[in-house]
Amino acid sequence: MKLWGGRFTGETDKLVEKFNASIDFDKKLALYDIIGSRAHVKMLAEREIITSDDRDKILKGLLQVESEIKEGKFSYKVEHEDIHMNIEARLIEIIGDVAKKIHTARSRNDQVALDLHLYARDRLVGMIELLIELEKAVLDLADEHKLTVMPGYTHLQRAQPISLGHHLMSYYGMLSRDVERLFDLYKRVDIMPLGACALAGTSYPIDRESVRDELQFERLYENSMDAVSDRDFVLEFLFCMSTIMTHLSRFSEDIILWSSSEYGFIELDDSFCTGSSIMPQKKNPDVAELIRGKVGRVLGSLNGLFVTLKALPLAYNKDMQEDKEGFFDAVETLMVSITLFTGMLPGIKVNEEKMKEAVYSDFSNATDLADYMVKKGISFRDAHALVGKAVLYCQENNKLLSELTLEELKDISPVLDEKAFYYLDPKDSVQQKKSRGGPAETEVMRQIEVARKEVLSQEATCEKLVKLI
Ligand code: ARG
Repeated sequence: MKLWGGRFTGETDKLVEKFNASIDFDKKLALYDIIGSRAHVKMLAEREIITSDDRDKILKGLLQVESEIKEGKFSYKVEHEDIHMNIEARLIEIIGDVAKKIHTARSRNDQVALDLHLYARDRLVGMIELLIELEKAVLDLADEHKLTVMPGYTHLQRAQPISLGHHLMSYYGMLSRDVERLFDLYKRVDIMPLGACALAGTSYPIDRESVRDELQFERLYENSMDAVSDRDFVLEFLFCMSTIMTHLSRFSEDIILWSSSEYGFIELDDSFCTGSSIMPQKKNPDVAELIRGKVGRVLGSLNGLFVTLKALPLAYNKDMQEDKEGFFDAVETLMVSITLFTGMLPGIKVNEEKMKEAVYSDFSNATDLADYMVKKGISFRDAHALVGKAVLYCQENNKLLSELTLEELKDISPVLDEKAFYYLDPKDSVQQKKSRGGPAETEVMRQIEVARKEVLSQEATCEKLVKLI
């Protein structure tokens, strides 16, 4: 007999039973379901809706269910549909009829919302912790390479000399905003829905505040219909995760390009690469490629949930069961991707010579020559045109700007002198760029210092957040 079977005379079709069930995936919520039930049952007894004797029996039974789940001994059954009814049914088996009181003043609608909030809050904090570790790994690498000169690109064409440290600090910026976004999201995850029941609250004298307090939520949903139908926090979490994955995917793309023979800027550690089954020479950056690829499924889950929720009437509808698989998958994808990324960075071997070669054998110092002419009194637009001509001249004569003779420089413009060669050296060019946010060593050091302080404060904020499991 189903827990909801009273008004039915016929059996559920077997395929319907399977189609309707969520147990295969919502068993992930099992321990949160028990935490929620515990708080609920305690409140029911406090309010004398059940006796303290009943409460104690139920709590004892829940303890056994919990250990069965933790030890992998719990047998999840499709005929009990979802995690909520699987646990209730098992509780009835263990402690008998008194277990049937657990669902007083509660519906699976507020129960699943609570479980999802608890799960989201824990994972959110876990994700922030992982991101902070990644930030630190990026900062360490940036620190090590604040003097490693390389070409900076626009349109994937060499643009201006920068340092690897400077380049890496741009990724720190993205990650740090990702952490900020998650802190902000926490406020919308940290709201307690239980007590909304199916949609209309209840006539039992429940105390939602005490449940909120017990489960360490900051706020309560003020409206019972909103409490059971809100999935904004899942959407927002998926958005944050899509953004993080997009950042990791861009970072991966750089790593993939840089480790190609065409660039040869870096070599990844063997432990983060795989080979080819046919081409013996291959060493492929699979981890970075997979992370780049996985952005699709996370963004797909965000899109999927938007479509599911759009035009969904209030309050609970079974459509909402579709909120879970994509969400869980995204969370797991993020956790492993961030962890792997953090592990991959310290093993990167940087080929400083190759980077130097790339930046010394092109025209990415052209802007510096124009800037020097501006110092000598020429307007930037005119200087731009003159250097453009000089580049053309160099290309025709198979030379670099730094290989021009003083006479040739003077032909470009009489204002040019010996000192121009200093400005043409990419290493010096980088050190000239001391503007705030620029690549000069002192400036990158300042950026790293600000970032380190930021990470410390993020760690302190993170420690104050609630994580139950
Ligand atoms: N398994 C359901 C879900 O994940 C739980 C809520 C079901 N409520 C209901 N009235 N059918 O959404």
